[in-house]
Amino acid sequence: MKFIIGNWKMNGTPQTKAKMINALAKTETKNRVVLCLPYTLLNGDNRGVKIGAQNISKHDDGAYTGDISGQMLVDSGVKYVIVGHSERRLYHHETDEIVHAKAIAAIKNKIIPIICVGENLAEHRAHKTQRVIHKMLKTALPGGGKFIVAYEPRWAIGTGKTPTMDEIESVHKMIYDYLKRHGNEKTPVLYGGSVNQSNAATIAAIKHVNGLLIGGASLEIKTFLSIIKSIK
Ligand code: PGA
Repeated sequence: MKFIIGNWKMNGTPQTKAKMINALAKTETKNRVVLCLPYTLLNGDNRGVKIGAQNISKHDDGAYTGDISGQMLVDSGVKYVIVGHSERRLYHHETDEIVHAKAIAAIKNKIIPIICVGENLAEHRAHKTQRVIHKMLKTALPGGGKFIVAYEPRWAIGTGKTPTMDEIESVHKMIYDYLKRHGNEKTPVLYGGSVNQSNAATIAAIKHVNGLLIGGASLEIKTFLSIIKSIK
């Protein structure tokens, strides 16, 4: 069983969501499929499809205009939430400390956080990937509870570029070893960044890759379903 998580980012309408939910509800798969939607699309008839959000406040309630709490997500049927996505880090200045607090808030509400880590292009070119990710894990991960880690090289998101299969394998091994040392051996580690129909099955088959986080390729029913079916 692999996790296949679609991240719709700031895309989608009630109509496109309903069509995707209908298609997913009819698709038989051993994989764990989750659709991470914008807030306005979380509620409604999700036909048993697992729904995730893309952000959560570290606070329980109060004067935080524009934010959304864990309880509000629970009330909307949310089971998973992406935290620390590179777009949140970049456009909303989310630090590893904030990501950590958000992951804790999710766990407190029995929502599984999908905690994203990844190096930028300069760090990749300077061979600093493992060092950067180690630092992120050290600060961002919660001490315990159920969570997921997603390795998303920033330079691979939405660019059509991916690391080599060997690079993905060695980063995933490093993350797995880190988790194991901290008693979280069973924590799933996903890969994300320019996953598409042609590379999904190959990437998902790499050792210590427990699933995929998919942006652009999760928006189209045909593409997303073909990815889900291609992963055994
Ligand atoms: P992408 O995005 O698949 O469009 O590269 C992945 C992500 O941002 O999670």
